[in-house]
Amino acid sequence: MIEVKELTKTYKVGSDVIKAVDHVDLEVGKGEFISILGHSGSGKTTLLSLMGGLTRPDSGTVRIDGTDIWAISDDELSDLRNRKINFIYQFSSLVPTLNVIENVLLPTAFSRDRDEGYYDFAMELLDLVGIREKEHSYPAQLSGGQQRRAAIARAFINRPEIILADEPTGDLDEETEAEIMALFRRMNEEKGITFVIVTHSSDLASQTKKRYRMSNGVLKEAE
Ligand SMILES: Nc1ncnc2c1ncn2[C@@H]1O[C@H](COP(=O)(O)OP(=O)(O)O)[C@@H](O)[C@H]1O
Ligand SMILES: [Mg+2]
Repeated sequence: MIEVKELTKTYKVGSDVIKAVDHVDLEVGKGEFISILGHSGSGKTTLLSLMGGLTRPDSGTVRIDGTDIWAISDDELSDLRNRKINFIYQFSSLVPTLNVIENVLLPTAFSRDRDEGYYDFAMELLDLVGIREKEHSYPAQLSGGQQRRAAIARAFINRPEIILADEPTGDLDEETEAEIMALFRRMNEEKGITFVIVTHSSDLASQTKKRYRMSNGVLKEAE
């Protein structure tokens, strides 16, 4: 499903050249759940944004279901992203002036088949993340963990096939982290969604079957 070959991205800062992602190869099969562990600055965020079609690589390829995402037009790429990929960030924030259900439904406002049962699906997602009764609450009325759950429900509303999660539980306490990870596993098992989770927590990485390590832009399979 995701096939990364010789992917490279460098940044020039003044006279310095930083190899943020250095000839990375990676294959992620449909329905797999992998983690990439690495210290801050090791290139994890850059790799995710290259894989998800947000940052153009210097060289190398990213194929999603066989399509070389950096060889197609911007329109085709944004269409592919909308249909298949979603990101979850550490600080995925809700729109403060919208209530929970409105926040979860927000991404469907740009979708073509907008009236196709999204409300029911949004409620199913709120149920899955355990905040169904908060449907009409505003973000400021929720705890940090509840806000995160709502943001996660929102990430699933367009039925993505792939979730690219960047330190998704970075700022949460252990208990909430465990709950969110259990939720991801459930979405993986029940809905067959493919997960790539990037983290600096070896605890979190140890919970995934397939693990990689990133260091100075270089990716290696972990034992
Ligand atoms: N837009 C940018 N401009 C210049 N340097 C960057 C940029 N983004 C990331 N970097 C550098 O690339 C390296 C990898 O960064 P990043 O991918 O954010 O790592 P991580 O997510 O593992 O912390 C770091 O040295 C960082 O400073
Ligand atoms: Mg990062």
